Amino acid sequence: MPSTEAANRASSRATVAADRASRIGPLSLAPDSGLLTFGDDIKPILDSDCIQCHGPRLRENGVDLSTYAGVSRVVQAGNANSLLVLVTRSNGQMYPNLTGDRAAKSALIRSWVVDNAAAETR
Ligand code: HEC
Repeated sequence: MPSTEAANRASSRATVAADRASRIGPLSLAPDSGLLTFGDDIKPILDSDCIQCHGPRLRENGVDLSTYAGVSRVVQAGNANSLLVLVTRSNGQMYPNLTGDRAAKSALIRSWVVDNAAAETR
């Protein structure tokens, strides 16, 4: 039923927004939007913690996380078993490379992939 789907989607967005606000604080929350975006939420994490080994210069394992196109190769939108999610979850191989609040960053990446990645391309 379409109206139920819309309500579920809205509720899922609200959950993501609330979760995000509780984890990283309201200052990082984009105004008027519960959606995580690549540019605002994910790229800054990859830029600070990942691209020294996964950028144009090094590209470990063929993985380039410096562009959306490169990131797209390790993400299937909506799939919690995407490689990017697996390597950044708490027991993941790349989790120790996350700096600062690892758990929050890991959760943001997972939320973006599972709830948002299909919808946006920046
Ligand atoms: C210090 C260098 C370094 C940093 C920083 C780093 N990686 Fe890696 N990454 C590697 C190496 C080396 C491999 C290959 C590991 C292997 O094959 O055992 C790898 C592999 C990967 C893979 C492919 C795994 C596979 O099974 O094919 C992904 C995806 C990945 N890294 C994501 C990330 C993410 C996301 C970050 C930032 C949180 C990150 N990496 C930070 C060095 C790094």
